[in-house]
Amino acid sequence: MRILFLGDIVGRCGREAVLSRLPTLRKTLALDLVVVNAENASHGFGLSPAIATDLFEGGVDVITLGNHSWDRRDMIGHIGSAPRIIRPINFPPGTPGNGSIQVELADGRKALVVNAMGRLFMDPLDDPFRCMNELLSRHRLGVTTQAIVVDIHAEATSEKWAFGNVLDGRVSLVVGTHTHTPTADHRILPAGTAFQTDAGMCGDYDSVIGMTKEPAMARFIRKMPGERLQPAEGDATMCGIMVETDDATGLARRIAPIRQGGHLAQTLPDF
Ligand SMILES: [Fe+2]
Ligand SMILES: [Fe+2]
Repeated sequence: MRILFLGDIVGRCGREAVLSRLPTLRKTLALDLVVVNAENASHGFGLSPAIATDLFEGGVDVITLGNHSWDRRDMIGHIGSAPRIIRPINFPPGTPGNGSIQVELADGRKALVVNAMGRLFMDPLDDPFRCMNELLSRHRLGVTTQAIVVDIHAEATSEKWAFGNVLDGRVSLVVGTHTHTPTADHRILPAGTAFQTDAGMCGDYDSVIGMTKEPAMARFIRKMPGERLQPAEGDATMCGIMVETDDATGLARRIAPIRQGGHLAQTLPDF
């Protein structure tokens, strides 16, 4: 299965960076499954139902979220009727929506997509490791599903590495989100799970993690409440990772980053 995962979409330029390229990329890279993190898609904060619809119509199969899941309050009432939008699995019991979704591709193959959130330097949450173990007691890679994609939305690189290694051999891909900074450590772990600490963002890198520079810098320098942060809306980079898996085992065969447009060095998978 050929899977594309794109990191946090930030603002209008991030959405356009994705939507302008995805229809072509789906064909040229022969993608079977496209997953995007869209927790910052609505003007940097949250995801509106209308923008979610645009992303699905533009070629996205599953949307993941994170600590900004409910910044747009209309998502709270919407997520229950939109199962392909998932929020972190370790939110407390009773939280609207789900932390995972099993989707069926046009050819009948199945893929399970999961969103989890770290706890280091983040809001307190249930244990994401235990939540994953519980979920994976009901899903077997290569048996009940051909692929399992896990978005670990977390601040700390150590927690993300631990997450990848705990899940090694049991899922197809563990990819980090939330830092908005792509890491150069994409690799296949010893037992066959593809891993990258952070996919990076789809947004304008001439910014402070996607937000306009002046107010973001002032927050650090003046330590006074300032103006609300606004997404930078210049030339955006579409940033993410592509993985090819073996349908028989669900494990990764190849992994490569993708960065298109904007201010970062460009790269495209060569498989
Ligand atoms: Fe984010
Ligand atoms: Fe986040």
